[in-house]
Amino acid sequence: MLRNDQLEQWDRESFFHPSTHLAQFARGELPQRVVTGGSGVFIEDRDGNRLLDAFAGLYCVNVGYGRPEIADAIAAQAKELAYYHSYVGHGTEASITLAHMVLERAPANMSKVYFGLGGSDANETNVKLVWYYNNILGRPEKKKIISRWRGYHGSGLMTGSLTGLELFHKKFDLPLAQVIHTEAPYYYRRPNAAMSEEAFTAHCAAELEELIEREGPDTIAAFIGEPVLGTGGIVPPPKGYWEAIQKVLKKHDILLIADEVVTGFGRLGTMFGSAHYGIEPDIITIAKGLTSAYAPLSGSILSEKVWKVLEQGTDEFGAIGHGWTYSAHPIGAAAGVANLKLIDELGLVANAGETGAYLNAQMAAALADHPNVGEVRGEGMLCAVEFVEDRETRKPFDASRKIGPALAAALLAQDKVIGRAMPQGDILGFAPPLCLSRAEADTVVAATQRAVKTVLG
Ligand SMILES: Cc1ncc(COP(=O)(O)O)c(C=O)c1O
Repeated sequence: MLRNDQLEQWDRESFFHPSTHLAQFARGELPQRVVTGGSGVFIEDRDGNRLLDAFAGLYCVNVGYGRPEIADAIAAQAKELAYYHSYVGHGTEASITLAHMVLERAPANMSKVYFGLGGSDANETNVKLVWYYNNILGRPEKKKIISRWRGYHGSGLMTGSLTGLELFHKKFDLPLAQVIHTEAPYYYRRPNAAMSEEAFTAHCAAELEELIEREGPDTIAAFIGEPVLGTGGIVPPPKGYWEAIQKVLKKHDILLIADEVVTGFGRLGTMFGSAHYGIEPDIITIAKGLTSAYAPLSGSILSEKVWKVLEQGTDEFGAIGHGWTYSAHPIGAAAGVANLKLIDELGLVANAGETGAYLNAQMAAALADHPNVGEVRGEGMLCAVEFVEDRETRKPFDASRKIGPALAAALLAQDKVIGRAMPQGDILGFAPPLCLSRAEADTVVAATQRAVKTVLG
């Protein structure tokens, strides 16, 4: 194929890149990468680099790149029927089959699946449905949503508000008033170093209860949380956390939304993170791993309890006023069906558990003793290394030193391995495709060790 020599110039002149320092990019101060292909855990760019993508895109290409089974299913669907809507009882074989397959894999008591396009819009749907639910139940005051600091739930108006990271609020007039935040379940950053994990869990539950009492339980509709904090730093919860939180929510009749956009479909070594931690959600958010990002698709899985009230609402008020042109898009649904089959056929849920544990153990063995490594942590195929200036006091590096980005850059430059400098704190994150092999895990660990040596000595 002829190479378009103007592409880099067009990129700087025409393309608005999300989550990017726009001015630096336009001035040519940030690198460009035009990605052209991928296979397994590797991507290729048009300069001929082959990179080990240890973040699976944005923790989404769970089956790995270049799977013909999914590409063929997309092509077949596009040829047969590229689009029809799903309003007023319409559907396609792919969307109906996928809903059935999702429910077969979901925790008990789940009743229906609504399909959207991405994680952000799925969480917008969830908040709307929670408001509708309480209006139908005659509780118009019960509307606030509690989220955690460091939670990530998207970057729309409501979902950017739910997200508990400063970058996503600053200068956007967020969070909106209906959203309130509670303590992050981040044991490494506990308020008092002497606190045990159990004591910290009790502290998080007490903080939540205090917030609910202060605001008034009758004003709180739902609590949203990721089973493992993702973009906020890849932080597994402290022991007993979900049990303690659910006790508080039940007491105050507050719905629980489990945001499984990252953890759904195998990343923790179980089909859902809810099963992993004994979470019994009222609503589950899914996206990313639903199609392994071969096509955009998300979903809201609703429990029978929520569904019954929605049915009651439409009997009283008519058809539900919610939906998008592309809800349950057939191409996304066809990708989803092929993807879920492939996850089963390749045994990827088990591999995420086994190879993920290996990756975490090897990373800890290689780095845990380094004087600037505060913590190596993870769960399933999620792994993070947090860097600090002083291990004893857990004192962070000055943010201006940009240690996290420097480490990610060294990893890439030296060994062509992609990790992610998480947006808040000096945390290097890994979320490889679930098909990662032990040899590939070894490559990631060795590269990280070298990057640490280069940047921190
Ligand atoms: C837990 C979680 N929820 C929601 C989202 C938002 O998904 P999207 O970027 O598809 O809108 C993300 C994205 O990273 C996420 O990690």
